[in-house]
Amino acid sequence: MPNIIIVGTQWGDEGKGKIVDFLTETTDVVVRAQGGANAGHTVYNAGEKYVLHLMPSGILWPGKECVIGNGVVIDPLAFIKEIEGLESKGVAVTPDNLRLSSAAHVVFPHHRGLDQAREQRRGKSKIGTTGRGIGPAYGDKIDRCGLRVNDLIQPERLEAKFRARVEQMGSTFEGLDLPSIEETLTAYTEAGKRLAPHVSNTVAFLHEAIRSGKQLLFEGAQGAYLDIDHGTYPFVTSSNTTAGGACTGSGVSPTRVDEVIGVCKAYTTRVGSGPCVTESEAFSSRLHEMGREFGATTGRKRRCGWLDMVMLRFTTMVNGLTKLAITNLDGLDGLETVQLCTAYEMDGERLTLPPIDAEDWERCTPVFEEMPGWSEDISHARSLEDLPSQARAYLDRISEITETPIGIVSVGPDRQQTMVCAV
Ligand code: GDP
Ligand code: IMO
Ligand code: MG
Repeated sequence: MPNIIIVGTQWGDEGKGKIVDFLTETTDVVVRAQGGANAGHTVYNAGEKYVLHLMPSGILWPGKECVIGNGVVIDPLAFIKEIEGLESKGVAVTPDNLRLSSAAHVVFPHHRGLDQAREQRRGKSKIGTTGRGIGPAYGDKIDRCGLRVNDLIQPERLEAKFRARVEQMGSTFEGLDLPSIEETLTAYTEAGKRLAPHVSNTVAFLHEAIRSGKQLLFEGAQGAYLDIDHGTYPFVTSSNTTAGGACTGSGVSPTRVDEVIGVCKAYTTRVGSGPCVTESEAFSSRLHEMGREFGATTGRKRRCGWLDMVMLRFTTMVNGLTKLAITNLDGLDGLETVQLCTAYEMDGERLTLPPIDAEDWERCTPVFEEMPGWSEDISHARSLEDLPSQARAYLDRISEITETPIGIVSVGPDRQQTMVCAV
């Protein structure tokens, strides 16, 4: 039984939630291993729209088990709100279908406060974070002064460690609009009690699941170019969003992983600041006028551009992709021609892989290859044969350049609008 890692290949919002939901039918355990409530994964289930932030998308399938691994940063108040929202829609969340790692780090109000204050201070050079406290929470983890879920569920430890941390931070808190220490402790102690039945050493659970023949599906958050190491630094998030992050963030060894599927929009989008070589105002407006490409977490307009094969070449390498899942192909309907960026030009030089520094990315211009578009509405296609030949040629070219087979093609947000080519 294959264990599959799902990753975003671009700047997030590629449709990972939809693809994870689609693949959950044939899996047993869905695992989140990095990121936090900065993620927003949209899934349509029985006509109802769900946007999942911390909860693995597998929760919408009865009988499936979900795990939040050690690599995730958990805002317990946001998470409880998310659980309550799901329960109010009739989704069962129990200690049997949701397990939370005792080693995951906790996001506190001061992390959010610092995130937002730093962004304000950065002014024009802001990163455009989601304001969910992600950077400061991972910062504390790496700086070895964070609190973990195992502290959250033990009130005395929580109080002692939180007070000590606040003292250490001293004047860093000044000017932030934060709840008092007592208020935070009360709310977090309650949250700890509420979450405690779900908390365990999830590494042991995942290994037992593998041993007993269960199949694991890792639900990546964000995308390769938001990776703290491989992305457009500093315009990135603070975790490893590439395939390796699924292993370190869950305690499952790379030797247990069989497939890595890269989810890729048929074009490029980005929210927040930073380079985006193929960005086009006209293309962005077209998609926004179609009612598409508004952020699932913050509602911000996504910046849009043509598909960037320079990015995809590198993504394929760094993730070791075994297959691609192309989503939103229907977003290109009705165009006379479509463009694929196959190289960058920087200082008269042609690049087939992206540069390292964001400053250099900003100096790159796209080299496009033009292909014929299609006039048909493809959202009703249910097999590759239903697609116009131009759309199939576009997919073939993506596969050819990345030297990676296309396993899934998606032509709409619903489960049924999904074609399996080779999974
Ligand atoms: P994620 O963060 O990668 O899970 O992606 P988001 O949910 O943030 O954004 C993807 C958006 O595209 C959501 O609104 C999805 O419902 C939608 N979506 C996913 N696949 C398709 C598709 O093939 N066609 C269309 N029209 N929408 C899609
Ligand atoms: P999903 O999982 C798109 C972006 C933010 C910002 C940068 C840093 O839905 O694909 P952070 O709050 O993480 O410190 O922000 O990363 N970002 C995302 N963009 N999709 C996401 O998640 C994102 N999570 C963070 O917009 O540019
Ligand atoms: Mg999203």
